[in-house]
Amino acid sequence: MTDRLADNIRQAAAVLAQASRVCCMTGAGVSAESGVPTFRDAGGLWEGRRPEDVATPEAFAADPADVWNFYLSRRKANTACKPNPGHLALAELAGLLDSFTLITQNIDGLHHLAGSEKVLELHGDLWTNQCTREKRFANQVACPDIRATPKDGFTEIPHCPKCSSMMRPGVVWFGETLPVDTLEAAEFAVRQCEAMLVVGTSSQVFPAAALATMAAHAGATIIEVNPEATALSDHADVCLFGPSGEVLPELVRGMR
Ligand code: OAD
Repeated sequence: MTDRLADNIRQAAAVLAQASRVCCMTGAGVSAESGVPTFRDAGGLWEGRRPEDVATPEAFAADPADVWNFYLSRRKANTACKPNPGHLALAELAGLLDSFTLITQNIDGLHHLAGSEKVLELHGDLWTNQCTREKRFANQVACPDIRATPKDGFTEIPHCPKCSSMMRPGVVWFGETLPVDTLEAAEFAVRQCEAMLVVGTSSQVFPAAALATMAAHAGATIIEVNPEATALSDHADVCLFGPSGEVLPELVRGMR
């Protein structure tokens, strides 16, 4: 770690220690050190596959089995992934602050596995299924077995145990609106916070990317954690240029 990064981490820790309300927004980068591929980096998830081929309502309508196979392969790959020190540090950070709201664009569930509670999942949850007719989620209806990862994939597309309609992955696709309650809770929290951490996101996908700007306009100090400069970096007050699995544990150590 460079002296400059260590200094910036100390500065950021001092900001967080003074704040009573803190928000954190995470993106794919926070899970990179767990082995979950990001979207836009080399080797990213969309590489070789256009998002509109697999992550849109139109793609699902045209070929539901192809879209299911894509998400099943993601479930299989993610089954082996464990929370990394960055996820664990964020779970610990919550206990050091009066108020901490964790907002994520990730669908991998690793914040929950790390022990974070009440995570606002803007883009849904890879591990849930949703009824295409009633919009009910599989974990909200009596069918706990559908939520489990099937070892050999589905032999057929899952159907709602209540109304028999086709189920879809419980994630947000391009062209769809975000879950209203979750987005409103995130907006409320960022408008109130005194400091906001933005971790492992290229800040290119809206409306998620607008949350940091909203926090900044409301007067919050913006602290970015990312090995690379992003669309947000010029507007951040402190940039911690490093991998979140190394930077976040140092930040929490600084807070303690
Ligand atoms: P991106 O792939 O756009 O950006 C990942 C970011 O993580 C980049 O800025 C990397 O520099 C950074 N990164 C890589 N390794 C890191 C590490 N070890 N520690 C910290 N940062 C690291 O992913 P997102 O910004 O999350 O949406 O993408 C946002 C949305 O675009 C996704 O939620 C998904 C996608 O389309 C939907 O599917 C709706």
